[in-house]
Amino acid sequence: MELIIAKDYREMSRQAATLVAAHIIVNPRLVLGLATGSTPLGTYEELVKMKKKGMADFSLATTFNLDEYIGLGPKDRASYHYFMFHNLFNGLNIRRENINLLNGLAKDPKAECRRYEKAIQKAGGIDLQILGIGQNGHIGFNEPSEVFPTVAHIVDLSEETRRVNAKFFKDKKRVPTQAISVGIGTIMKAKEIMLLANTKEKAEAITEAIEGPVRPQVPASVLQLHPKSVMILTEQAAKGLKHIFYKSNKFSYIEKKVV
Ligand code: F6R
Repeated sequence: MELIIAKDYREMSRQAATLVAAHIIVNPRLVLGLATGSTPLGTYEELVKMKKKGMADFSLATTFNLDEYIGLGPKDRASYHYFMFHNLFNGLNIRRENINLLNGLAKDPKAECRRYEKAIQKAGGIDLQILGIGQNGHIGFNEPSEVFPTVAHIVDLSEETRRVNAKFFKDKKRVPTQAISVGIGTIMKAKEIMLLANTKEKAEAITEAIEGPVRPQVPASVLQLHPKSVMILTEQAAKGLKHIFYKSNKFSYIEKKVV
């Protein structure tokens, strides 16, 4: 696992966007796994800027989002579908038919899970998976549990996740109780994984994920077993790390460590 410690959110976002843009140059047909939430917003903003300046061409790329709330449709402002178009896709030259999203209104959510897994396989799997992390260590909507879920599945959202995500809903009572999420198995099959975290509220989850034992109670800890993963963290999110030495200096990122 490689760690990049950035001094702040802006630098974290720039680092992440630069890596994505580099992947696109190397492989224009990149299959990109995407997350929603507050964490990747700055990265998406940077990618849109790069596209405008002609520095990133997504015309051949394919995307798969990680998750979606059950019961929310594309026009719902709190849906991940809406989020992605509003914050990223509308600003890129990606083809609509190459954008893959889970359907939160699917009549048969289990069939939707199967459809999505097949689509990922048909695309040849994910090349680069971008992840955020929940305060409870979740990745995608794979909540802490007794086992690591393998493929796309229906999730009962934890009270903690619903409370934290209520910030995206005008009416807090509307926060869904269920979601569809790709599984940990699907995430771990990605050729490369990039996890981002920026707030001090994530520090404990980050410490557990990097320095704790690999266990499904901290879903992100499974990334320790991935052959090619990078965590881009702000100093705040990295502040709980005990075994990793890093020091501040004037550069945009402070130290790269392989742990
Ligand atoms: C959303 C997702 C979640 C978020 C996590 C952190 O697609 O995959 O795992 O990454 O809940 O959310 P933020 O970034 O809002 O703190």
